Amino acid sequence: MYTNLRTVLKTADKLNMAVGAFNTHSLEMLPAIIGAAKEEGTPVIIQTSVGTAKYVGHGNLAAVCKSMSEQAGIDVVLHLDHAKEYEDIKEAIDAGYSSVMFDGSSLPFKENILKTRQIIEYAKKFNVSVEAELGIVGGTEDGVAADASEVRYTDPKEAVEFVNQTGIDALAVAIGTNHGQYKSKTNINFERLKEIKEAVDIPLVIHGGTGVKDEDVRKVIDLGIRKFNVGTELLVTWTKKSKELFGETPENASLRNNVVPCIDAVNEVVRRKIQLFKNIDD
Ligand code: 13P
Repeated sequence: MYTNLRTVLKTADKLNMAVGAFNTHSLEMLPAIIGAAKEEGTPVIIQTSVGTAKYVGHGNLAAVCKSMSEQAGIDVVLHLDHAKEYEDIKEAIDAGYSSVMFDGSSLPFKENILKTRQIIEYAKKFNVSVEAELGIVGGTEDGVAADASEVRYTDPKEAVEFVNQTGIDALAVAIGTNHGQYKSKTNINFERLKEIKEAVDIPLVIHGGTGVKDEDVRKVIDLGIRKFNVGTELLVTWTKKSKELFGETPENASLRNNVVPCIDAVNEVVRRKIQLFKNIDD
């Protein structure tokens, strides 16, 4: 079923697992991601930046996700990642996105609350879920880099006030991960995550999933992470594979011969991630 975050994160909570939220940069990546979720028998969250949504077409992404969720027989959420403008969020909701993230993390606290509330008011009318962020995650997101000096961990007391005053469906936390971190891995502040989890009773989201060590995945899920964002690793896998293939093939070769192996390579990465996110004791 094509659904929103509330549905899939509720299930994840019952099963003590996280749902993978995978950033796509094109329609071609969707079979890789949704196919992997079908093979693993889990729901999946497809997320796009505002930039990707604009160039692929919001409506196209929504239509393909809807049809693929029906064909695969699994829950699929289409989520707008890190939107900072009301108009961008409205455009996505109007075109059929089932979930959005309003990223007011760089705004003063009260302004973040007020703007998040505005988004919720609009999203509610369409049964669209809303994620918001408190604290500042480092690294590079859609080409925009956050300076190391800007990084700020989520404050548990602020988290309580923020959740109570906004009514968001999921909270993105800054606990030491960085967007775009591919070559090295992150040192997570588990103590801070535990404090946040004890303070608020809603699903928590980890950003910068590519940089999280495999051995840390279960630990953060046990501490309340229910949505696990992974982007860079998929992008790098696709790009490496396509460079290799396009470098070797003649100009008039079938495009399919070069694209299908990229889909297969990304599918393998997504499956492995989902296996880590599932509660293997179940
Ligand atoms: P990575 O690209 O580091 O995996 O992070 C993805 C993300 O958090 C998207 O919001």
